[in-house]
Order: sequence, then structure tokens, then C-alpha cells
Amino acid sequence: MVEVVISRKLPIDEQSPEWRRLARLARVRVAPLARTNLKNAVGVLSVLSDTIDAAFFKRAPHLKVVANYAVGYNNIDVAAATRHGALVCNTPDVLTNATAELAIGLMFAAARRFKEGTELIRTRRFKGWDPYLLLGRELGGAKLGVIGYGRIGEAVAHKARALGMRVVKHGSRNTANNLERLLASSDFISLHCPLNSQTKGLLGPRQFAVMKHGAFLINAARGELVDESALVRALRTKRLAGAALDVFGGEPHLRAALLRQPNVFVLPHLGSATREARVAMAKLAVGAIAAVLSGRTPKNRVN
Ligand code: GLV
Ligand code: GLV
Repeated sequence: MVEVVISRKLPIDEQSPEWRRLARLARVRVAPLARTNLKNAVGVLSVLSDTIDAAFFKRAPHLKVVANYAVGYNNIDVAAATRHGALVCNTPDVLTNATAELAIGLMFAAARRFKEGTELIRTRRFKGWDPYLLLGRELGGAKLGVIGYGRIGEAVAHKARALGMRVVKHGSRNTANNLERLLASSDFISLHCPLNSQTKGLLGPRQFAVMKHGAFLINAARGELVDESALVRALRTKRLAGAALDVFGGEPHLRAALLRQPNVFVLPHLGSATREARVAMAKLAVGAIAAVLSGRTPKNRVN
């Protein structure tokens, strides 16, 4: 019997219409894609730590659809999927607000020194209120540079304006000059672009060198957009006042130099981690697989 393999248990009710529709079309099995037999799989639901490449398609000769449980799909070789005749879908829109809210939270965490503050409490070194204790800066009146102006970047800009920030943006159609101007003038720099061959290492030594002194870097997109050695240097030389990262290179292993930095606040890739977003993502991804298996085209396809 044909199967749909779902890589992780999802926050979706098996009585929901989406799940029941899928269960009428194929046997649905939950198993990590990396370690399961995919010979009978016609559909899979992948998570962003699953590598979906040519070798993967060899293991799944009958695969028609890959629904990635994420908006980013840098874990998928889309050209290999197309050659295999498999449709790739993602989960845009439903996680935009969750991710934008997290990015705003990261700005507050960096600017108001949450990491250093919780360290003082945790290590019992807080000796009492002091006029000079952990002074930060305000978001109101500061300039935010948004790099990657898609759905999430736009939502962040909207929320930031409501907080009194001035927003400048850099999108994929802008020039390198535009990026340099943004970096030189922004108090907060927030990344919201997809990871691909053009954006890998987008912020490297050259880019950190033009950033405004005392700026903060926010990353709720993908770790590999940033050259982390250059980031560590920019923090050590105090070019940057701090960074707040929801993502980093080589997840889940954070490099020691970033872990040690007192002014680097790191979260374990929680951008879409709200109940609202994850339930909606599950419905969208499961619905997309069901659509393909019943001969329809889902609207959130990427190839
Ligand atoms: C999460 O990182 C996503 O791309 O949805
Ligand atoms: C600080 O706690 C204040 O009351 O100003």
C-alpha cells in the first residue's frame, strides 16, 4: 500500500479534516525520514533538519510530493526534486507573525541585555539596583535595517514602526551599495532572507567592517547567512554592541566563541514555535500532500 511518511509527530488532531483526508489516500506513518524505509512512500513531510537531496530520492523511488514543515527550504535540493518529478511545498504565511514577533523579542533581548541580566541572577551576583547597572538602549527612535524584504521582513518592519523605529530595507533586487548604506546607518540589523547560494555568508568581514559602531545584529532566518568568525571578531572589537540569534551555523551545536560572549543571546530556532503557527503549518503541509495525491496543485508549491 502507498504510504505518506511524516518525519515527526505534529500538533495536528488525527480527527481533523486534513488528516482524515490524507488517511483516505494513503497509509500515514510517523517516522524520522533519515532512518526509515521509503520504498512505498508517495509523499513525505520533512522538517528542516532532514536533508532531501538526490540520494534521498533514490531511497524513495515513488515520491510525488515533499511538504517541508517550514517556510525555508534550503534543506531541499529543489532541482533534484524536479528531476525526480516530485513537487516541493513549504508553509509560508502562517508563521509570518510568529517569526516577526520573535525577531522583535530578540531586538529587546539584545538592546536591554537580557542575557547579562539573567546571568547576574542565575549566578547570584546581583547586589541590588544601581543607576549604572546594565544600561541598554531603546528601540524607539533607533534605525532598523531589514535585510530580506519578503513576508517576514515586511511584518517585522510594520511592528518596528509601531515601536517608533525608523526602517530601511534591502531586498534581493537591491544592489551591494544599498546593503552597505543600510549596514553603515542601522542601529539594528535584522536578517529575513532565504538561505541559498547567493545569500550564504551575506554578512562577512567586509560587511561587518562597514557596520555602524554599537549596532546590534538580529538573526531569525538562517545561521549560514552570517560568517560567524567575522561576527565574533566584530563583537570582540566592540564594533557590534551585541547580537541576538535564533539560528546559527551547524545547529544544534553552537560554536564555543559565541556561547562565551556575554552580549550574545541565543535561542534554539524557535521562530515559528507558537501553538498557533505550528498547528496551522501542520494543516497546510498535510493538506498539500493530500492535494497532490488527489491530483490537485497546492498553492504553496515551490517548484
Ligand atoms: C523555520 O526556520 C522555517 O523556515 O520555517
Ligand atoms: C525603577 O525601578 C524605578 O522605579 O524607576
